[in-house]
Amino acid sequence: MMAALQIEGLSKRFGNRLVLDGLSLQVQRGEVLGLLGPNGCGKSTVLNIVCQLLQADAGQIQLLGEPLTGLGARARARVGLCAQDCALYPDLLPAENLHFFGRLHGLPAAVRRARVAELMESFGLGPHAATRAGQLSGGWQQRLHLAIALMHRPELLLLDEPTAAVDVAARLDLWRLIDGLRDGGTTVLLTSHQLAEAERLCNRIALMRSGRVVALGTVAELVAQVPGQAVARVQSGNPAATVQRAQSLGWTAQKASGQLHFLLPSRASLRDVVDALDGPEVTAVSVQAVSLEDAYLKLLGEAAVLE
Ligand SMILES: Nc1ncnc2c1ncn2[C@@H]1O[C@H](COP(=O)(O)OP(=O)(O)OP(=O)(O)O)[C@@H](O)[C@H]1O
Ligand SMILES: [Mg+2]
Repeated sequence: MMAALQIEGLSKRFGNRLVLDGLSLQVQRGEVLGLLGPNGCGKSTVLNIVCQLLQADAGQIQLLGEPLTGLGARARARVGLCAQDCALYPDLLPAENLHFFGRLHGLPAAVRRARVAELMESFGLGPHAATRAGQLSGGWQQRLHLAIALMHRPELLLLDEPTAAVDVAARLDLWRLIDGLRDGGTTVLLTSHQLAEAERLCNRIALMRSGRVVALGTVAELVAQVPGQAVARVQSGNPAATVQRAQSLGWTAQKASGQLHFLLPSRASLRDVVDALDGPEVTAVSVQAVSLEDAYLKLLGEAAVLE
């Protein structure tokens, strides 16, 4: 199947800092692909280059088999971006914002009117129709932001952290809206720092580091790349002693917040782990399947072995 988006050897420098280092990535038609990685690894730069806000130093980008570079307005018409910084006009009403961005894309008035009505309806913006965009809560601004990105019916939608800083209910709503877009055939490339969000929304996940994609696959495929059969999560009053004991058993220690995580080389029951760690300093133990978080930490090399 032809990729919706094919990126080959993309490089970008800011000053003497190499931010994208020959990045390659394929997004299949109709999938939601998540681009994940630490702050500053270049995720937004990729999205901004794909929607032609930034120019790459090198590399090729194809949208449905057609080169994107040099297409100018036509490329912009095929791609929609929901940028990391919410870009809407605070003094305009939601529908006025939609009209404004529709005009930017050169949509005729009749088409604009129909789409504004449709988006106000499908995004549940009706009750907020009389509120200026700048007065909407963060979650509603984010919904409007997404609606704006859809005004010109892009074939490819780029979402840069679409649910950062919104509450739980708004996040669930945005997830449903993104599901709906995918079901309607839109291809989506999104970034997120929330692994649960990526797991919930994405067909596949690309892990990015140092300007390259270092791993790509479904959650199951990424998890399968972790050299461990299970993860033991341990609380200890003496972490150094517990880590030393675990390492002597051949377990790999992973960095994690508040707890010790160990990758176990073979399947083990809770009892096996408790018996193996045996000591008064160990206050809580659980044994779980390897998760996307473990894969993220391990495959991005963030799983520094604890001292
Ligand atoms: N216009 C610019 N001029 C100079 N440096 C920039 C510019 N835009 C981005 N950078 C730098 O490029 C690097 C990658 O930035 P980018 O915004 O793509 O990262 P990111 O992965 O989206 O990070 P985050 O998760 O924090 O959003 C960072 O070091 C950033 O400071
Ligand atoms: Mg970013």
